[in-house]
Amino acid sequence: MTDKDREELLGYVKEYSEAPYGGALGKAPIRFAYVEAPLTVWPVVGAREFLVAIAPKEYNRLSVVDVGRALQHIVHKATKMGLGTCWIGPGADHKSAIAALGERFDAEQDHIICFCAIGYASFLMPFFIRTIVGIVQRRRKPLSDLFFLGETLKQPLDTTSAPFDQLGRTYEVCQWAPSSFNAQPTRCAAIMDEAGETIVRFDFFATTASRYYAPVALGIWCTQWELGCEALGIQGHFEILSSEERGGAAQVVSVQERQAHYDISWLPNTPL
Ligand SMILES: Cc1cc2nc3c(=O)[nH]c(=O)nc-3n(C[C@H](O)[C@H](O)[C@H](O)COP(=O)(O)O)c2cc1C
Repeated sequence: MTDKDREELLGYVKEYSEAPYGGALGKAPIRFAYVEAPLTVWPVVGAREFLVAIAPKEYNRLSVVDVGRALQHIVHKATKMGLGTCWIGPGADHKSAIAALGERFDAEQDHIICFCAIGYASFLMPFFIRTIVGIVQRRRKPLSDLFFLGETLKQPLDTTSAPFDQLGRTYEVCQWAPSSFNAQPTRCAAIMDEAGETIVRFDFFATTASRYYAPVALGIWCTQWELGCEALGIQGHFEILSSEERGGAAQVVSVQERQAHYDISWLPNTPL
């Protein structure tokens, strides 16, 4: 990156590593360490600059959600600056990152969650990468597989009818969220008031048991959701609710032959 771009990007890294984004849900510090080194990653070709996402060593699912949420905000800022980015999880070699981080990594306290390569996108894409992109990427599940009406996740949500249409393209913004191996593990349920007239909240679920990539994907959805709402001028906030606060709804429900685990809710400041 040019010095100017690097400086601007590192400003966003600082902003999103702190409250109200970084560490907001897990209540523990997370950080993104900038590394300029040819880290061993697969299959990124030619990337030399990376952000390494670090959470506390002691596992805390919400800290992993925080990483997904904060890093996706940084990715949006980078994209607006005209930079190219690539999230790297399974394709990352932690040893080369730890060596490059030196004293900035404490093996007793820290755990690397994932990386993000940052630079200027090349139009010259090697053949094997083009093949992978064609097979794995640029495809998404239909909205009817992702959004549901009610906490049982049985009935697809009609996102185009009132009152759900108030959220406009926010559903689509989440649909196009990136995820590791494009697994798209996040699901969402719209919850109505007792009269069935207004939306009181949206519950977000993870459908894989993955301890890292499912909560990262869910955090990325949180960012997509809040940016979609922000664009529409709809205000709300995230909260982790107990089963009681969710009216006795189950924390784990079955959807599309998978188990969906409740993680977090988004509540509009005024019912929609
Ligand atoms: C947490 C996470 C980890 C990822 N890990 C890798 C990776 O190791 N290597 C890679 O090339 N892409 C990786 N990706 C990118 C996904 O493969 C990509 O977002 C997905 O296939 C959808 O592609 P698209 O966003 O270009 O449509 C990762 C994405 C996320 C969110």
